[in-house]
Amino acid sequence: MEIRKVGVVGCGLMGSGIAQVSAMSGFPTVVREVSDELLSAGLGRIEKSLAKFTEKGTMTADQKAQTLARLKPTLKLEDFAGCDLVVEAVIENLERKREVFAALDKILAQHALLASNTSSLSITEMMTATRRRERFLGMHFFNPVPLMKLVEVVKTVATDPAAVEGALDFAKKLGKTPVLTNDRAGFIVNRLLVPYLLDAVRAFEEGFGTIEDIDAGMKLGCNHPMGPFTLLDFVGIDTTYYIAEILFAEYREKRFAPPPLMKRMVMAGMYGRKTGKGFYDYSDPKNPKVNQLL
Ligand code: CAA
Repeated sequence: MEIRKVGVVGCGLMGSGIAQVSAMSGFPTVVREVSDELLSAGLGRIEKSLAKFTEKGTMTADQKAQTLARLKPTLKLEDFAGCDLVVEAVIENLERKREVFAALDKILAQHALLASNTSSLSITEMMTATRRRERFLGMHFFNPVPLMKLVEVVKTVATDPAAVEGALDFAKKLGKTPVLTNDRAGFIVNRLLVPYLLDAVRAFEEGFGTIEDIDAGMKLGCNHPMGPFTLLDFVGIDTTYYIAEILFAEYREKRFAPPPLMKRMVMAGMYGRKTGKGFYDYSDPKNPKVNQLL
């Protein structure tokens, strides 16, 4: 199955990144948001990321203009009609996602693939909102999408092998490396990453070290690009908390249970970089200072 035209539902942090890499890779790409305001914020994010590539010289001004010309921003789901693949990247709410998929199912041609970028919700549960069970899968991208090489392709018990091949092939055409996984909460990466991040919070609460020392330990001792607290602030403490709750509900294992400190931070609106405060304080974004939490 050949993918020629792509759709992306949602132009938030992940949706804008997915639409950007799709257009950069030569695919005419329709990207939809629910308001003009959200759409222009998403397109602004794409412009900014493309500008970084042109500044670095990894993309010419001409390639940037061609990428932008391949993007068709819209407010209407009906504009996805001619797409061969639509990737959903709306908020992590199962009901909202099921509504979007039920509507798309009616608009798209029979051969088209539907994929969700969810990080933790069940692909199978979304699939049942449609009548294209064989052509429904997960395509989970990583933040920041233009830089991160991985895509998790998620198959359900009902996904057709030809649809899996189509998704793997599309991910490769985006310059990504796909890995194949089954529909289990967290897939491969969050199944392993989230308990590690939660354990870092526990280690801090137990007095193993300061936030800065635990971060430096994992960064320099394991060559990770970011220590666990910097990564928690980057991904979002609210997002990680939400994913942990889903993993805990699926596996009922203590290691997936979010620690109380994390819950209190979410209650207090300390989500990390996006709210300016998390494990670090970003009042001066170039020079984050550790936040006094205990
Ligand atoms: N588009 C284009 N270029 C970008 C960019 C973007 N969106 N974001 C950053 N860059 C560029 C910067 O301009 C910079 O360029 P130069 O090297 O020319 O200066 C370069 O990328 C590096 O950026 P920074 O200097 O700002 O910072 P960095 O060296 O720390 O790299 C990073 C940033 C790539 C994010 C790196 O820190 C990293 O890999 N961090 C880990 C990210 C990670 O683990 N992501 C996965 C999170 S988990 C997830 O997403 C799954 C989930 O379901 C929750």
